[in-house]
Amino acid sequence: MPAATDSETAGLHLIGRLLDPASRADPYPIYAQLRGLGPVWIEQMPAVVVTGYRDCETLLRDPRLSAERWRHGGSEPEDPYPPDAPPSVRQPWFLSQDPPDHTRLRRLVSRAFTARAVARMESSIGRLVDHFLDRAAGRDTFDVLSGFAHPLPVTVICRMLGVPPADEHLFREWSSQLTRLVDGFLTAAAGAGETPAWVPGMVEMHRYVNDLVADRRATPRREDLISELIAAEDDGDQLGHDELVATIVLLLVAGHETTVNLIANGVLALLRHPEWLAALRADPGLAPAVVEEILRYDPPVHLTARIADQDMTIGEVRVPARSLVILLLAAAHRDPEANPDPDRFDPSRAQVRHLGFGFGPHFCLGAPLARLEGRLALAAFARRVQDPRLIADPPPYREHINLRGVGELLIAHAGVK
Ligand code: HEM
Repeated sequence: MPAATDSETAGLHLIGRLLDPASRADPYPIYAQLRGLGPVWIEQMPAVVVTGYRDCETLLRDPRLSAERWRHGGSEPEDPYPPDAPPSVRQPWFLSQDPPDHTRLRRLVSRAFTARAVARMESSIGRLVDHFLDRAAGRDTFDVLSGFAHPLPVTVICRMLGVPPADEHLFREWSSQLTRLVDGFLTAAAGAGETPAWVPGMVEMHRYVNDLVADRRATPRREDLISELIAAEDDGDQLGHDELVATIVLLLVAGHETTVNLIANGVLALLRHPEWLAALRADPGLAPAVVEEILRYDPPVHLTARIADQDMTIGEVRVPARSLVILLLAAAHRDPEANPDPDRFDPSRAQVRHLGFGFGPHFCLGAPLARLEGRLALAAFARRVQDPRLIADPPPYREHINLRGVGELLIAHAGVK
């Protein structure tokens, strides 16, 4: 093995600091140092870590990179599921597939998960936002995370899918377990040979969704996403049963914790920048700009990863086939070449450049829904919660590295209008 270069040694040291839970509250100075190194090779993974905006954007469209992350290392991963798990649990998500399977599944799902389907949720999301904020009334302190940001997105997706309200609590529990899978880093940290903590939740959720799909096939409903996914057709092609079940699970898992972090990071940024909280209260029309700036400044998803399908060169780094390519989106957002004065929270920027929903063929399918939830939640928080103040700054953070977010967001307030 060739000797590590100075930049590799520095990169390894910075990645070590990033993994340290003490860095979770503010990883941005470490990202800036990593960016100063350019793309950096970490032999131990083996992976290249990319932090520049233009590099990340270009690589997200590069057909030499595969989204089949499980191929990292070149061997088939162990099957963690019990033999009696429903077959749908082994169906790959299209998030982790390449063309032609990715193209086919994404097109079919896009037929049902449309802007129209999202827009017709607007008034019911507004009512849910008010319902959760009402619960803060009459209390001196309120945890914005557990009382508002966390329950809202899971309730919205359950209502959209047509899950009976009495069962929504099940999805809340499964989703919390599954964030460890989506984070990636926490999955990798699980001990060899141990069953990962998220497996039982995943299996139970697949069983439930299998039954729900069977029920909707027997009695289709108007205007529920599961019935629309069952009916979705593209050139005579339809989703197979296991594809359908896996997609429903993906929608919940990809859309829950991410939107939780958008709302919680948004409230946190507004509390730390009271001039913007006041501006949003005075003009709810600022909500879209606030949401885009949060997606850039303190994004819910910090990174994504791909596998190099062939030997390639990124910057000055030679990347052998089958290496992991880690795209540190949250670092790229603060690249001064993309966004001037990047460490400033400023929703009035003339242009906000971010990759918060990814870019290219895997661009987030749920972006319109996430944006709508973020806008309604933040505008209502600013309008209704009187004189909110942070109780702890920084608040405690969860251990997640990729889906980085607070573990609690306690505020004091003077009432809820
Ligand atoms: C893909 C972020 C909300 C469904 C992605 C990707 C990102 C992302 C970065 C691309 C991953 C990659 O290229 O490897 C976010 C953020 C959200 C959010 C920050 C909230 C603020 C949602 C919601 C849903 C959703 C609400 C659905 C209910 C999906 C799906 C994909 C995806 C299905 C896979 C697309 C594909 O592979 O073609 N999301 N997401 N997301 N997201 Fe989201």
